[in-house]
Amino acid sequence: MAWRGIIEEFREFLPLSKRVKPVTLLEGNTPLIPSRALGRQLGLSAKVYFKFEGLNPTASFKDRGMTVAVTQAVGEGARAVICASTGNTAASAAAYAARAGLDCIIVLPRGAFAKGKLVQALMHGARVVAIDGNFDAALSIVREIATTYPITLVNSVNPYRLEGQKTAAFEICAQLGGRAPDYLLLPVGNAGNITAYWMGFTEYYQRGLISERPRMLGFQASGAAPIVRGRPIAHPKTIASAIRIGNPASWDKAIRARDESGGMITTVTDRQILRAYRLLARYEGIFAEPASAASVAGLMKLAHEGYFTGRKIIVCVLTGHGLKDPDTALSGGQRVITARADVDAVIKAARLRRWRS
Ligand code: F0G
Repeated sequence: MAWRGIIEEFREFLPLSKRVKPVTLLEGNTPLIPSRALGRQLGLSAKVYFKFEGLNPTASFKDRGMTVAVTQAVGEGARAVICASTGNTAASAAAYAARAGLDCIIVLPRGAFAKGKLVQALMHGARVVAIDGNFDAALSIVREIATTYPITLVNSVNPYRLEGQKTAAFEICAQLGGRAPDYLLLPVGNAGNITAYWMGFTEYYQRGLISERPRMLGFQASGAAPIVRGRPIAHPKTIASAIRIGNPASWDKAIRARDESGGMITTVTDRQILRAYRLLARYEGIFAEPASAASVAGLMKLAHEGYFTGRKIIVCVLTGHGLKDPDTALSGGQRVITARADVDAVIKAARLRRWRS
């Protein structure tokens, strides 16, 4: 049967009343892609997979949470939704609001988000407000507005968001043939996603659908690593704008996921993120956005430290698509070769002579 979106597929695990008709773009069912190069290059005997969440309808994992949050909002009679965002939540909220016929208000840190995400929010008709402040300031503003106006907050402090996002854990277990991976690696920003994955694995475990839960390995950019440093960061800095967050809303829950799973939350540098980002595109054929590459940067860092031993199963979550952020992609010095419009000039420009048989 054709995929029906995460609400229909996982309804028994979601706290929605049966009567609510899903607001869906048929999100979820994203591929778990085996690594062909990186795992081997790192000398791992483990099997490495990428859960490519960039293949959701708005090209990030946020759609899993947004279908549930917006469906619930409609069920409660909401007419508008609001969120703060580093970009992906905005794109997703705008799309699902458009689908549901709701107004959508978005508050973004000015000049600090990837172009593709802004384009998505605007195309879907959201009212976009850019503030002179970072994500944390934007989140506190929308939280306050949502307490005084009849507008539903769809940031991950809305519990329906995490309920939807946990379904990615269910899919991974199914894709691995009814087991969890040994390690789950993912970027950590506002810390909702690591919380949601842990909820998902824990529910499957408690229902006896899997016999072990993974170690949760979260990665923050070293200039935006409040959880690792143990204190909020007033001016978080990283090339990975999606996770440029200094005071994560789900801080405590992320720490619980880390500790209950026997995992860790640690840092990766921007250099490591950019290297992983480019290697992933170049040698795996997978174009994920810089924040997503934090999971792969983490894989590389821990592999070099000898953290992974034996024939384990490792899943790196790739949270968003690389096309969202063309500016970072093009900052790597690659260039287009120009040529006159004739065969010889193109052969020369493309350096094809060496291929002649
Ligand atoms: N990866 C991407 C591509 C993201 O957009 C985000 C968060 C994360 C990872 C981190 O997930 O916050 O659950 O720990 N983006 C939010 C946004 C903050 O506004 O789009 P998290």
